[in-house]
Amino acid sequence: MIEFVWGKILGVQVIFTDADYPFADSKYAQVKEYFTGEYLETFFLPGDEGALFVGTGTEDLTDIHILKELMAKACKQLKKLKQYKFTMILDRIMEKNDVSVLTACTEGICLGLYDMPTYKSGQKEEAWQVSILGIPGKELERAKQGVTEGAILTEAVTFAREMVNRPGNKLRPMDFAEEIRHLMEDTKIEGEILLKEDLEKLGMGALLGVGGSSEYPPCMMVLRYRGNPAVKDVTGLVGKGITYDTGGYCLKPGESMNGMQGDMGGAAAVAGALYALARRKERVNVTAVLPLCENRISAGSLVPGDVLHTYSGTSVEVGNTDAEGRLILADAVAYAVRKEKVTRVLDIATLTGAVVGMFGNTIAGVLCDDMQMWDAFREASTKAGEKYWLLPFGKEHEKMLESQIADLKNIGGKFCGTITAGLFIRHFAEGTPWIHVDIAGTAWVKTPVYEYQNAGATGAGVETIYYWLKTS
Ligand code: BES
Ligand code: ZN
Ligand code: ZN
Repeated sequence: MIEFVWGKILGVQVIFTDADYPFADSKYAQVKEYFTGEYLETFFLPGDEGALFVGTGTEDLTDIHILKELMAKACKQLKKLKQYKFTMILDRIMEKNDVSVLTACTEGICLGLYDMPTYKSGQKEEAWQVSILGIPGKELERAKQGVTEGAILTEAVTFAREMVNRPGNKLRPMDFAEEIRHLMEDTKIEGEILLKEDLEKLGMGALLGVGGSSEYPPCMMVLRYRGNPAVKDVTGLVGKGITYDTGGYCLKPGESMNGMQGDMGGAAAVAGALYALARRKERVNVTAVLPLCENRISAGSLVPGDVLHTYSGTSVEVGNTDAEGRLILADAVAYAVRKEKVTRVLDIATLTGAVVGMFGNTIAGVLCDDMQMWDAFREASTKAGEKYWLLPFGKEHEKMLESQIADLKNIGGKFCGTITAGLFIRHFAEGTPWIHVDIAGTAWVKTPVYEYQNAGATGAGVETIYYWLKTS
């Protein structure tokens, strides 16, 4: 529990500064000996005048990612020090920014204080009190709104993280659908869960093909939010929801299976973003389509050489059973476009090992066929403090997906793995403006890269999608 308080000093004062602090003229004169003000350096002065100094170094204090990281660092330090009441002195940060950055600051605070639930016994929650100081009086109302938005975004990111972290045996496809339904309960989001029988009637051969590998059946969740009924535009958000990816008969080596309970990070990001948009009552129209299933070994599993008939009618040769994400996304994207009549579509997925090889854990790969859409998405990513990189593609890459026996093949050979995976999915958007986001590297970190992360799920994509829809 975190309670926000305004305008009074409470417990430890947290001071963000570079080496430039006027130590000599303050009660903190002695601190100068120990604290140089380097980025993320901390120094704690206990006692009645208790203060925690956090170094800002030469970093750009208008960068959302930097602000989040500074806040989270301070909070993690306070947690170690068991200081459950503290005051964030933000005057130095507010010199450079508009109060709107309080949204990001709040996220940094909440994510810094957050403990991932574990299955260890005896985990307990602390009651935190955070006071915020340094906001000009006439801006206070807007500042409070920023904190509210930050708290909702934290909820959205935390939901995505918790789902991605949940072990495969504790989150089967239907469990995940139920968690999402529960999350959306008190919002204006409506929708349905298509069960295996429904998928059969609809002819979703790709989702059924992959999902047939498990005794826990596949399903597809469709969620609709109409925040602006006056306009016809509807954005389709499609997220990969593989609750566990063993690779199927093209089995992954044991080492590569680590973290594959997080192969539903795309679906989790969509659910989180949609939740935040609805809670904030944003004036946007969104339809989310989430194909959920497992990729395992059983008598019903696919094997290489199999041919699937997708929802759109396109036939697909299975070249590799571990390239399952694009198969389930093919049916979901086609459904979003044909049945739900979305006017633009984003798909997001932990899709390829190749993108991890390219960009590691900090940048996600993007393919897009509408440059205005990409510009808006990139702009949104700076508000979110996330990083994305646009990849090229052309007819040469499309050729790589040709099959001798079907319309398409689900693998494109040895090279350009991220590009061919994206282009496979693009085929099913059937000309609807399309943006594709591969978060295989950014959705999950073995050890945290940034202070606002924990080991495991990061909640990648949630905030960029939220800001993208909110602003374009
Ligand atoms: N879920 C994986 C991609 C992945 C890799 C996610 C690493 C997170 C971390 C995906 O289903 C997969 O296995 N892709 C294959 C495709 C290949 C067989 C064409 C890959 O990238 O190796
Ligand atoms: Zn796979
Ligand atoms: Zn996968």
